[in-house]
Amino acid sequence: MSLHGVKIVGVGHYAPARVVTNHDLETWLDTSDEWITTRTGMKPRHWASEEEATSDLATDAASAALVHAGLSAQEVDCVIVATVTPDYDFPATACQVASKLGALDKPAFDIAIACSGFIYGLTVASGLIRSGVYRRVMLIGAESLSKILDKDDRSTAILFGDGAGAVILERSEEDSFLAADLGADGSRPELLYAQGSGARKPLDHAALDAKVHLIHMQGPETFKLAVTKMVESTDAVLGKAKLVKADVTFLIPHQANKRIIDAMARYLDVPADKVVVNIAEYGNTSAASIPMALSETVRAGIVKPGDIIIFVAFGGGLSWGAVAWRWAA
Ligand SMILES: CC(C)(COP(=O)(O)OP(=O)(O)OC[C@H]1O[C@@H](n2cnc3c(N)ncnc32)[C@H](O)[C@@H]1OP(=O)(O)O)[C@@H](O)C(=O)NCCC(=O)NCCS
Repeated sequence: MSLHGVKIVGVGHYAPARVVTNHDLETWLDTSDEWITTRTGMKPRHWASEEEATSDLATDAASAALVHAGLSAQEVDCVIVATVTPDYDFPATACQVASKLGALDKPAFDIAIACSGFIYGLTVASGLIRSGVYRRVMLIGAESLSKILDKDDRSTAILFGDGAGAVILERSEEDSFLAADLGADGSRPELLYAQGSGARKPLDHAALDAKVHLIHMQGPETFKLAVTKMVESTDAVLGKAKLVKADVTFLIPHQANKRIIDAMARYLDVPADKVVVNIAEYGNTSAASIPMALSETVRAGIVKPGDIIIFVAFGGGLSWGAVAWRWAA
């Protein structure tokens, strides 16, 4: 039983100006627009410039959400950034973002759970509001994955893009948060990981030469698990929220591969017109993909009060999760 309800009062998104097309990738990789399009559904993706880092992308998305909500940064009580491409190992990227926004002296922290970051973040942020700890929380999913891509590895270089999506959550009489289903399995991190400068094996010259700081993924196995876990998590969250599939207005999945989304929708028996897909514009932006897709959908004016939205993701960890949300006025 929660003390308060929570709703989303503002959304925003941002993608860096630099656009990298499949044809651009063809110029240095043994790949083709045809392969990338048919195997992933991806067309262009956006890559940050040398000067841009994750906090810059996050700040732009958050600023757009503040304008959308008609709020100033000082009216936000807490800033959370979901990212696995932080500006620094520490301090948290959220601290940079809060300062840049002008949310001065406010609590700020990161959530690092890869592509599931927005789902975990939405659950944590909603919990902080529903339990009465804060009145307003800024939640941002932001990534500069291009900075940790092995640009010579065609199996990963083509997949990932940069971007940010932000939502402002606010205490409310109505409660939009219906249920969450979260899970993780850390037994096989190597399926999708970047060892980076982690304490397991501190970075040295040999490690850098071996490119351990960049993304490594076992694609086909991750693909199968992504479909299975996102289907299971969606079923579980519908059950917890006492909903049936026909109640769903929008399914907003993590955008990892169009074929993953199609397979999941088929298993779940959700018609294509209810599934939000923007992978052809941005590629896989990890923790940013769901809030970017939500922001685009809300700003298109097609989300109405009472609509049921299922957010669902799968990613490194391995981790997965879904949230059932009823849109409030
Ligand atoms: C990465 C992914 C697109 C690869 O697609 P796939 O259909 O599984 O392809 P495979 O890895 O089996 O490779 C098939 C062939 O295409 C080749 N290939 C891989 N990448 C290629 C590229 N960019 N261009 C051309 N050929 C490519 C492979 O080398 C392989 O060739 P071979 O048959 O001669 O050995 C897909 O596995 C995927 O999307 N995985 C999951 C991503 C995901 O879930 N992420 C989760 C959270 S972020």
